[in-house]
Amino acid sequence: MLTDNAIEILKERYLLRNAEGKIIESPEELFRRVSRHIASAEKKDRSLWEARFYNLLAGLEFLPNSPTLMNAGNPKGQLSACFVLPVDDSLESIFTSLKDAALIHQSGGGTGYNFSKLRPKGDWVTTSSGKASGPVAFMKVYDAATEHVKQGGKRRGANMGILNADHPDILDFITSKADDLSLQNFNISVGISNEFMKAVEEQLPWSLINPRDGSIAKKVEATEVWNAITEEAWKTGDPGLIFLSTINEQNPTPNLGTIESTNPCGEVPLLPYESCNLGSLNLVKMISSQNDNIRLDWTKLGDTVTMAVRFLDNVIDANHYILSQIKKMTTTNRKIGLGVMGWAELLMLLEIPYASKKAISLGERLMKFIKEKSYEASTALSKERGSFSSGQKRRNATCNSIAPTGTISVIANTSYSIEPLFALAYQRVGILGGKVQNEFNRVFVQKMKELKLWNKEIENEVRKTGSIQHIKTIPNDMKELFKTSLEIPWEYHLKHQLAFQKYTDNAVSKTINLPTSATIDEVSTIFWTAWKYKLKGITVYRYGSKSKQVLQKCNLN
Ligand code: CDP
Repeated sequence: MLTDNAIEILKERYLLRNAEGKIIESPEELFRRVSRHIASAEKKDRSLWEARFYNLLAGLEFLPNSPTLMNAGNPKGQLSACFVLPVDDSLESIFTSLKDAALIHQSGGGTGYNFSKLRPKGDWVTTSSGKASGPVAFMKVYDAATEHVKQGGKRRGANMGILNADHPDILDFITSKADDLSLQNFNISVGISNEFMKAVEEQLPWSLINPRDGSIAKKVEATEVWNAITEEAWKTGDPGLIFLSTINEQNPTPNLGTIESTNPCGEVPLLPYESCNLGSLNLVKMISSQNDNIRLDWTKLGDTVTMAVRFLDNVIDANHYILSQIKKMTTTNRKIGLGVMGWAELLMLLEIPYASKKAISLGERLMKFIKEKSYEASTALSKERGSFSSGQKRRNATCNSIAPTGTISVIANTSYSIEPLFALAYQRVGILGGKVQNEFNRVFVQKMKELKLWNKEIENEVRKTGSIQHIKTIPNDMKELFKTSLEIPWEYHLKHQLAFQKYTDNAVSKTINLPTSATIDEVSTIFWTAWKYKLKGITVYRYGSKSKQVLQKCNLN
């Protein structure tokens, strides 16, 4: 069942080792360890639940986020991927959260923070009669610490750094990753309010406010900030945008405070000290075929959602919490994030091109179904176990997130999250410390063989270019079906993000991949449309605009 790639990754990072560093479990034992531990949260019939969870994982129908796979069953096993920590305007707060972040990273989690409460660079500091360093300087301190605290000794920690568009240091922040060397362990995003977007739309002056006393530090043109954002995002992919007004309109627990940040990849808006554990359904496993006719198996999908929600709710109780504040917030709101992986491959199997109306309407229908089933499952759990807060019907304040599935989709051998294929053949760089692996997409090859279109010549072309668009002998409908990320118009990238966001109570992590030839104006239009669509965040990436890319188009010559 597991591919060589998957086994290699499991060996490298997931399988338990003894004190000498020798691997002491098989992949089957890993799935057993995880299911046993998660079933231990059950009040009764533990072995029955263990068997059910085991089938879910070993069948690669659903996988939880990496920390659960790595740490479940360890006495101090921390199982969540996503955290947000507060950063207030004092050294005490800055360095307390830095220490907490280091501990979270060490345990396998990633952290997000909004630095907007920090007084700007050059501002007065009473205690030392000196000048303040400002948010960007402290982000660099966080970045340096992250560099040296590997997650569980296995991968480097990930951070999300947010600064709101009205902070006096916003222009410095926007270009803080411009040199391609700084803040390598951060994704950065500008926190965007509806007021800011309206000021840009109407070309109004925009006040930058000193958070220390609420005074206006400076007035700029709103379009100046907007242009700086879009130009820098065009150049380097950073910053992205986080739409804080939209997020807070949908905050499920407004009485507990305003949401200021998301986790590192953006799929979970969280309150300070909240954590969330994620899991993803493998859509390629949710099909059935009759007389060679492949169709989505809605019954299986529904049953798998119900089981996965129970699994994720159990994770909250089987979890070891590093900080008492995190335990309190997380067990109060009980946020979980069930998402999907393998969307692009499912579409290929169903012979629906990614860039088509049919794909968008199936995406909406699918996610609506997953959300409804998740809510049903969470409501049923609340009857059995109690709801997350009084007056609520559900067990979990949120149920769904679309995570990037950066590693778990490799374990499940399917396409990432809701992303289209990056290429039909590619080199995977970096996931195992720089080792290069070459791969053809198996669903593509299988379909090409079925259609008797696969031959040496085409194989070589695809190996060279990662694409079939230029091959004359390939029929147009197949070219449509196998369009890759950069060949898909950005409008469709965005429409897929919207289709899934409509029925995702947390958020969708998606990168709008653009060809090198994309313009700054296009980036501006994409960001603008994302806000109009009421997406919760947006990230673009123009091919080649960073020196290191995880996925590179295949060119073996
Ligand atoms: O596939 P996997 O479970 O490893 O993770 P993902 O879906 O790519 O990322 C989900 C979340 O895990 C991210 O949004 C981060 O919060 C966290 N993460 C992290 O902390 N460090 C990484 N190197 C990758 C992900």
